Amino acid sequence: MQNEKCKMGSETPVVVPVTEEYHVAQARSAAKLLANGLGLSEVAVYSVATAVSELANNLFFHTSGGGTISLSAVRRNGSVGLEIVAEDEGPGIADVKLAMQDGFTTNGGLGGGLPGVERLMDEFEIESSRETGTRIVARIWSAGAMLQPLKAQAWLAQSKVG
Ligand SMILES: Nc1ncnc2c1ncn2[C@@H]1O[C@H](COP(=O)(O)OP(=O)(O)O)[C@@H](O)[C@H]1O
Ligand SMILES: [Mg+2]
Repeated sequence: MQNEKCKMGSETPVVVPVTEEYHVAQARSAAKLLANGLGLSEVAVYSVATAVSELANNLFFHTSGGGTISLSAVRRNGSVGLEIVAEDEGPGIADVKLAMQDGFTTNGGLGGGLPGVERLMDEFEIESSRETGTRIVARIWSAGAMLQPLKAQAWLAQSKVG
C-alpha cells in the first residue's frame, strides 16, 4: 500500500467527516463534484457517488463514532483516477470475507453495500480489526490523460463541501 502510494501521484485529499446522517449526502455531493471535475465518464461519476454513499452509510450505521471519507485525485501510468478512503476507529468487521458477500448484514440492511462498492470501483482494498477499526480504499480510473486532477482538486477544496 505504502509503495503503491509512492508510485502514484496523489493530490491532497478532501476529507468529509461522517458522524451524522446528513453527512452521507455531503460526502456523496463532494464525490460527485470531484468526479465531474476530473472529467470522469457519466457512468463513473454515478459509480463513485454510489460507492461513497454506501461507505458513508456504513460509517454512520455500523460504527460507534463515525469516521471520515477522504477523496483525492490520483495519477498512475498516464491515467487519472479518483480515490476514496473510508476510515473509522471501530468496532471493526469480525469476518471481512462474509461481509463482502451479497446479502450479508448484521443490522437488517440489504447487505449489498460493500460488494456493490467492490463491483462499481476498479480497485478495492479492505483492512479491518477490532483494535484499529476499518479502512477501505477504492479507486476508479479513467483512461483519458487529458484530465487535470490538480485543478479539480483545487476547485473542490474551494467549494468547501463537507
Ligand atoms: N465500517 C464498518 N464498521 C463495522 N462494520 C461494518 C462496516 N461496514 C460494514 N460493516 C459490516 O459489514 C456488513 C455488510 O455491510 P454492507 O454490505 O454495507 O451491508 P449493510 O450495510 O446493508 O448491512 C454490515 O452489516 C456490518 O456488519
Ligand atoms: Mg451498508
